[in-house]
Amino acid sequence: MSSHKAVIFDLDGVIVDTAKFHFQAWKKLANDLGFDFTHEQNEQLKGVSRVESLKKILKWGDMELSEEEFNRQMALKNDNYLSYVEEMDENEILPGVPKVLKYLKENNIPFALGSASKNARTILKKIKLYEDFDAIVDGTDVSKAKPDPEVFLIAAEKLKAEPQDCVVFEDSVAGVEAANIGKMTSIGIGDEKVLQEADHIFNDFTEISIEFIENLLRKE
Ligand code: G6P
Ligand code: MG
Repeated sequence: MSSHKAVIFDLDGVIVDTAKFHFQAWKKLANDLGFDFTHEQNEQLKGVSRVESLKKILKWGDMELSEEEFNRQMALKNDNYLSYVEEMDENEILPGVPKVLKYLKENNIPFALGSASKNARTILKKIKLYEDFDAIVDGTDVSKAKPDPEVFLIAAEKLKAEPQDCVVFEDSVAGVEAANIGKMTSIGIGDEKVLQEADHIFNDFTEISIEFIENLLRKE
């Protein structure tokens, strides 16, 4: 089969900055349970699933919960998080992202979402990008979390592209690792000291030129 180039985007930290909303919601949970939660700790939850995030937070707070209370707290946190998501609109799309999506559309390069979030579809609808993606793979579709490449491999399959023809945009260490394990080209969005395993690194999308994207997607 002749393959074609395709692009996969992570959502949180790549297309939108939802980390600030996760921070508010996790902080409320921690405070309600009687301990604090810092921005540094929030950083460590990038790309980490909801369940694993709560496990880490409870460890930091030196606290244990029954399974029932764990699930109740997790649901409360998500309801609180969704109250912030409810206020989102297309202005939340990070600078530089629309230009890249427009280029891909105009050049018929298929693109997918590959996110750990179970709220990804809700968020895409709020920012009015839901219809633009050729495929969406999120936390409801996968059984193995990043750095397992499952989420990106399913996305590649849906785009009918070979993994080695896929370019992945990621802001988390686990996500970059997942793309690398999946034999895809990884583009890290964020701090180069943190994302050093990525094939290319940018602070944000405003630093990415169309020439760079063109070169990346050129078929050898
Ligand atoms: C992304 C975020 C994480 C978040 C995870 C699950 O990977 O970077 O901080 O915990 O999604 O999100 P969810 O919306 O399902 O709670
Ligand atoms: Mg992310």
